[in-house]
Amino acid sequence: MGGGVGTSYTSGMASLSLGDVEKIYPGGAHAVRGCSLEIADGEFLVLVGPSGCGKSTLLRMIAGLEDITSGTISIGKRVVNAVQPKDRDIAMVFQNYALYPHKTARGNLEFALKLRKIPRAERQRRIMEAARQLDIEELLDRRPGQMSGGQQQRVALGRALVRNPAVFLFDEPLSNLDAKLRHRTRGELKELHRRVATTSVYVTHDQEEAMTLGDRVVVMKDGLIQQVGPPLDVYRRPANLFVATFIGAPAMNLFEGSVDASGTSFQGACGIIIPLSEAAAKTAAGRSITLGIRPQHLEPAANGIDLTVRICEPLGDETDVMLDGPGGSNFTARLKLDAVPAPGSSMTLGPRPGGLHLFDTATGERLV
Ligand SMILES: Nc1ncnc2c1ncn2[C@@H]1O[C@H](COP(=O)(O)OP(=O)(O)OP(=O)(O)O)[C@@H](O)[C@H]1O
Ligand SMILES: [Mg+2]
Repeated sequence: MGGGVGTSYTSGMASLSLGDVEKIYPGGAHAVRGCSLEIADGEFLVLVGPSGCGKSTLLRMIAGLEDITSGTISIGKRVVNAVQPKDRDIAMVFQNYALYPHKTARGNLEFALKLRKIPRAERQRRIMEAARQLDIEELLDRRPGQMSGGQQQRVALGRALVRNPAVFLFDEPLSNLDAKLRHRTRGELKELHRRVATTSVYVTHDQEEAMTLGDRVVVMKDGLIQQVGPPLDVYRRPANLFVATFIGAPAMNLFEGSVDASGTSFQGACGIIIPLSEAAAKTAAGRSITLGIRPQHLEPAANGIDLTVRICEPLGDETDVMLDGPGGSNFTARLKLDAVPAPGSSMTLGPRPGGLHLFDTATGERLV
C-alpha cells in the first residue's frame, strides 16, 4: 500500500451547527421553524417527535437533499448551504434500506467507494473492516433478495460505515425490523458508535429508542424544537406538557386544577387533593396549573387518593394498573405487585416524594 493509505481518505470528524433553519415547502407546509442546534464532534444526537413534526425534513436539509428556506447549516467550520450532497462528507441510512438489488452486499458496500475513486486495496480493507464490525462477513456475496430485513439493514449500515464520513445521518433505520431485532440492532448501533465515535444525527418517532441511543435528545413538535438535553434530564424535567406526555411510557398522568386557598396543596378540578412543597405552592399560587405524575412515581400511600382498579396489564416484573379516581379522573400506575388486582378492587395511591411536575395550564410551560 502506498503512503498515506488509511489516513488520506479518512475525513476525520466534525461538529455540526444549525442556525435558525427554516423550511417552507413550495405547497406552503411550514415543516421546520427556527431550528438552532450545536452538535458536538462525536456526539450522538436523536431527533424525536410525532409523525409530521419535521424530523426527516431537518435531516434531509443537513444531508443537502432538501433546500433550506433560510438559516445556515455548517459541518465543521464550513457553511454547507450551497454544497452538493455528495460533497458534504456525510452518509445517510434510511428506513427502507435502499440497497441496489442486483449488486451483492460487497458490491453495495464497494459502490460508493468506487464513485469516490478510492483504490481497490483500500476499498477491500474498508469492506472487510465494516463487515467484521457488523458481523456480515458471510453475507458479502449475497444479493439483498437473499437476505432478511435485519441483514439488509446491516448491509445498509455497512455502506455508510465504509465511507468513513464526517457525519452519519439516520432516518428511522430500525423501523422495518421486528421488535426483538430492533432491540438488538439498537444495542449494536450504540456499541458501534462507541467504537467509531462519528458525529451522528438519528431520527425516530420512538421515545424509547431516543432515550436509549442519544447522548442528547431533541424533542420536536410542529417543526419547533421543544426541548434539548440528555435523555434523563428531559425525562426528569420536561420543559412543557407536550414533552411531559411524549417522553416516558406509559404517559404521565395529568390533572388540571389550582393551588387551594390555604396555599399548601393542589386541588384538582376532579376533586383530588395532593400536598405540595412550600416552594411549589408559592410558584403555582394564583394560576391554573396542570399537575403531572409519572405512572412509575405512584405508590401505595395510607393517606393517598382512593382509586378503583379498572384494568391491569401485567408486564412480568411490574403491572400497569389503570384506575378510576374522584370526579371521573383517570390514573395509570406502574406498580410492583405480587398479585394482579381484580377489576373493581380498591387501591390507595399517592405520589412518591419528588414525583410531582407542575405546568402552567395556559402556556403548557413547566413551573417547578
Ligand atoms: N416534499 C414535501 N412537500 C410538501 N410538504 C412536505 C414534503 N415533505 C414533507 N412535507 C410536510 O412537512 C411536514 C414535516 O414532514 P417530515 O417528513 O419532515 O415529518 P417527520 O417528522 O419525518 O414525520 P414521520 O415520522 O411521519 O416520518 C409534514 O407536514 C409533511 O406533510
Ligand atoms: Mg420522517
